Amino acid sequence: MDVKTFGVVGAGQMGSGIAQVAAVSGLQVILNDIKEEFVQKGLASIAKILARNVEKGKMSAPEKETVLGRIKTSVDLKDMASADFVVEAATENEHIKFQIFRELDSICSPGVILASNTSSIPIVRIAAKTKRPAEVVGMHFMNPVPVMKLVEVIRGLATSDETFQTTWDLAIRFGKTPALANDYPGFIANRILMPMINEAVYCLYHGVGTKEDIDTVMKLGMNHPMGPLALADFIGLDTCLAIMEVLYEGFCDSKYRPCPLLRKYVEAGWLGKKSGRGFYTYQ
Ligand code: CAA
Repeated sequence: MDVKTFGVVGAGQMGSGIAQVAAVSGLQVILNDIKEEFVQKGLASIAKILARNVEKGKMSAPEKETVLGRIKTSVDLKDMASADFVVEAATENEHIKFQIFRELDSICSPGVILASNTSSIPIVRIAAKTKRPAEVVGMHFMNPVPVMKLVEVIRGLATSDETFQTTWDLAIRFGKTPALANDYPGFIANRILMPMINEAVYCLYHGVGTKEDIDTVMKLGMNHPMGPLALADFIGLDTCLAIMEVLYEGFCDSKYRPCPLLRKYVEAGWLGKKSGRGFYTYQ
């Protein structure tokens, strides 16, 4: 399938990153969110990253303007009617995602692929909310999207070969390396990453080490670019908790129970970098 216009629903950290890589790859992009201030914030963050690339000599100033010129903003989901492929990157809440998919299914032409950037919710559950389960797929980018090379492509039970192939090829077009994951809670990335982060929170909770020592062990002992607690702050503690809940409920297995300290921080509004405080404090 020839994709020319690429829709992104959600202009947050992930959505704006996805819009950026799509625009850099030459696609026309529609970046949608529920409020004008959200899309403008997303666009500003793309402009800032591109400006930094110009300063570093990785891109020329006219190229930056061309890329930005490919991104149209929208606060009405109906604008997705002109997209050939839509990726949803809204909050990791299944009810919000279900509603978006129901609406996209009625707005987008038959045959248009509807992808979700969900980090853990089964694709089959999202696909079942539409009348086009063969055209629903998982396209899971990593944060920060412009930097991280991986896209997990998740085949739902009914995802067609054509849908899968188009998504796989798009990931390559975006300069990423795709990996195939089958449709189980957390897929591959978060099935492995989140229990590690959760265990790091348990280490803090049980007093095995300070936050600094826990992160130092993983950074210097395992060569991770960030310690697990710093990474949790970077991802967002609410997102980490939501993913642990999906694993816990999806497998009905106590080994995935979220650490009470993680829950407490989320209840306190200590969500990590985005709220100014998580395991660490931020300016
Ligand atoms: N957006 C765009 N570019 C960014 C960026 C951002 N938010 N943050 C850093 N960069 C760029 C920098 O500009 C720099 O680019 P150049 O090489 O061109 O100069 C490059 O990334 C390296 O940045 P820094 O030198 O500032 O810092 P660093 O070397 O410490 O790297 C990092 C920063 C890439 C974030 C690195 O710490 C890292 O890889 N951390 C782990 C990230 C990770 O694990 N992500 C996956 C999270 S899980 C997920 O996303 C899935 C999910 O479902 C929860």
